[in-house]
Amino acid sequence: MTSYISHLECTVCGKSYPHDQLIGVSPCCEKVLFARYDLAKLGREVDRDSLVCRPDTMWRYAELLPVNDPADIVTLGEGGTPLIKTFNLAKKLGMTNLYIKEEGLNPTGTFKARGVSAAISKAVELKVNGFTMPSAGNAAGAAAAYGARAGLVTKVFMPQDAPAANKKETLVAGADLNLVAGLINDAGREAVAVAKELGLFDLSTLKEPYRAEGKKSMGLEMVQQLGWKMPDAVIYPTGGGTGIIGMYKGFKELLELGWIEGKQPKFISVQAEGCQPIVRAFNDGAATSELWENATTKADGLRVPHPFADYLILEAIRETGGTALAVTDQEMIGAMYEMASAEGIFPAPEGAATLVGLKHLLEQKFLDPNESVVLFNTGSGYKYLDLISG
Ligand SMILES: Cc1ncc(COP(=O)(O)O)c(C=O)c1O
Repeated sequence: MTSYISHLECTVCGKSYPHDQLIGVSPCCEKVLFARYDLAKLGREVDRDSLVCRPDTMWRYAELLPVNDPADIVTLGEGGTPLIKTFNLAKKLGMTNLYIKEEGLNPTGTFKARGVSAAISKAVELKVNGFTMPSAGNAAGAAAAYGARAGLVTKVFMPQDAPAANKKETLVAGADLNLVAGLINDAGREAVAVAKELGLFDLSTLKEPYRAEGKKSMGLEMVQQLGWKMPDAVIYPTGGGTGIIGMYKGFKELLELGWIEGKQPKFISVQAEGCQPIVRAFNDGAATSELWENATTKADGLRVPHPFADYLILEAIRETGGTALAVTDQEMIGAMYEMASAEGIFPAPEGAATLVGLKHLLEQKFLDPNESVVLFNTGSGYKYLDLISG
């Protein structure tokens, strides 16, 4: 069980870089670097079914994750979340195969644990002594927990109006919490400046190669849970886009390995009405997005006004025949109640947004009720109790 990582590659020009050095964006184009694996060797040496009997965490896919020595893995048991087949929601919507990937059961209550575990483990392997991280809230909570476990200096930067749960979980884990007047892009600028000043590594999403690798494991796990089959569509609440980008990359790797066959699922990106740069770019046929001015939504994870990796999100949506749509905060909050009362899953507003998106796309006949669809509930509603009245 060791990584088959071979090198890093610039997602714009394809230039290669070694993976045994600390590196953020690609020095050539200043864009996203992807981890690449020796898939030919992996395909010859590993049988996909041998993974199934391993412990139920994302590290079951260690060969397709970036860490060489298992001793460097910083884990709290992330991944291994259930793919729940819905009964009541499916019935209500006239569907037969509607699933929810319940990421709220991860350590720190969101899918962020996966990306942070991968990136901090690799940072330990590369001997960093500390890191900075800008975050809408949930990634900061995860960073604080994994940073504490790794014994690393952890400085997080989040908007001053981020959810109280995120501030408290950061403080209780002993991380240095910096509240920023502004949004995640403003937090990002401060995190980079402090990292430079103090010689720390900046773990901004997609500005280092490994958080996307951890998020990729959501997709690997989902297809394994479906008997190594892909669904027809995946509906994902999109902020910075790491989840979509990671899963799209992961499915390409599984296809190249021959571990799965067929077409990638349609990637459907759901954003908030008050912050929808990807929806606008998709509708305009643009390859990149423009800054969404005065971004506002109660789904803090979707308040990313100008995603750094917009070109990769748009590629995943277009190449798979997917789409992008926006929903209102009121609809999301209504869907928190609806998902919880129909299936017993209490979602974050971001996760609830996927149910709203599904309903709109069924109405518009973009999706057919006979298609198999997976909604990603990226976080637990317990982190957003102030959105629930009474
Ligand atoms: C609960 C939740 N869902 C979704 C997102 C957006 O994730 P991504 O960056 O993968 O688009 C976030 C990001 O903060 C989040 O916290």
